[in-house]
Amino acid sequence: MKSTYNINLSYDDNYAAGPDFEGQLPDLSALNSGLAPAHFVGYPVNSTLGVPAGPLLNSAYIKLYARLGFDVLTYKTVRTGYFPSHPFPNVRPVETAPGWYHHPGDKPSLYTLPALDESQPQLNLSITNSFGMPSRDPAVWREDVAEAKAGLNTGQILVVSVVGTVRHGANLEDLAHDFAQASAWAAEAGADIVEANLSCPNVSSGEGSLYQSPAAVSAVARAMWAALGAKTPFLLKVGFLEDQALVQQIVEAAARNGASGLAAINTIPAKVYQAEGQAALPGEGRLVSGICGAGIKEAGLSMTARLLAARNQVGLAKESFSIVGVGGVMTGTDALDYLKLGADGVQSGTGAMWNPYLAVELKQLLKLPLPV
Ligand SMILES: Cc1cc2nc3c(=O)[nH]c(=O)nc-3n(C[C@H](O)[C@H](O)[C@H](O)COP(=O)(O)O)c2cc1C
Repeated sequence: MKSTYNINLSYDDNYAAGPDFEGQLPDLSALNSGLAPAHFVGYPVNSTLGVPAGPLLNSAYIKLYARLGFDVLTYKTVRTGYFPSHPFPNVRPVETAPGWYHHPGDKPSLYTLPALDESQPQLNLSITNSFGMPSRDPAVWREDVAEAKAGLNTGQILVVSVVGTVRHGANLEDLAHDFAQASAWAAEAGADIVEANLSCPNVSSGEGSLYQSPAAVSAVARAMWAALGAKTPFLLKVGFLEDQALVQQIVEAAARNGASGLAAINTIPAKVYQAEGQAALPGEGRLVSGICGAGIKEAGLSMTARLLAARNQVGLAKESFSIVGVGGVMTGTDALDYLKLGADGVQSGTGAMWNPYLAVELKQLLKLPLPV
């Protein structure tokens, strides 16, 4: 199967010409009929299955995945100003071994794989991705978000992912206000939910590690809450953490400052080399990039379990604070694993790119009679 994002082209080419998909589209009313009622952050939806920030570059991608039966569609992270993408290549297949991310000391080293065989399914695929969170000018994305919203079907919602930009001389409060400005524009343009990306590991300038600091989580959430009020709920997207005490502090900081939930995980950073030993992605600061796909499923599930436990420890109700599971969902069965664990929603990035019928798979599984 080939990806709907063509990894042999630049980000800008994919933005202009994508998505790359010529398959059949499912009959949505047949696909959704018989599903149990579902809610995502208070909104009624056909299912809580979504695509996280990333693979859906613009309204053309959002409309395709809505037509493929995904119900929570996230618009790739945008900013308060134009920001260029890292140069091509941005995505490379990598080899991972079980538990590769448990690495003492420095970041683990991974190696790229040869080109993929497009005639085969890619259900065990892991990739590295490194875009640097590019953004179109706000005037462009605000209009396009409205277009994306207009392309949704009944029982589907739009999430817009935003990030603050670290500008010269800015402090944490300035950054938090930049998140808030992007959030306000996203809501105005039609986002049902705004999501703050606190966790991209590809940014060397500081935005990448916000999720590891309860003070930073509080500052960004507080500013977003002030900008959005009660009208538009917001989520915070965080990365992989193994320290339960810190996970609990992050949940508390988010909930106390108005967030409606947390989505996790983002990609896990690694040093990525070509088989010959050179860096896989050319250019300064790009030896370390973010790993996603099958090789992070175990990490995503374990983080979801930690977030659910933290929500209990803090005494928050499921209805008031959602936990959205992300990481390594390549098939309908993988998505079900997150839902069985208790996640309030599940999202597939890499899986949705190479397996666009994943929503069809999950919905068929959801309609099977429960085993007795
Ligand atoms: C092509 C691609 C682009 C991504 N871009 C973003 C982004 O702009 N913002 C963000 O928060 N996460 C981004 N991500 C991370 C995903 O949202 C997700 O957290 C991660 O890929 C793990 O999910 P997966 O294993 O299902 O891919 C991107 C992922 C991919 C595959």
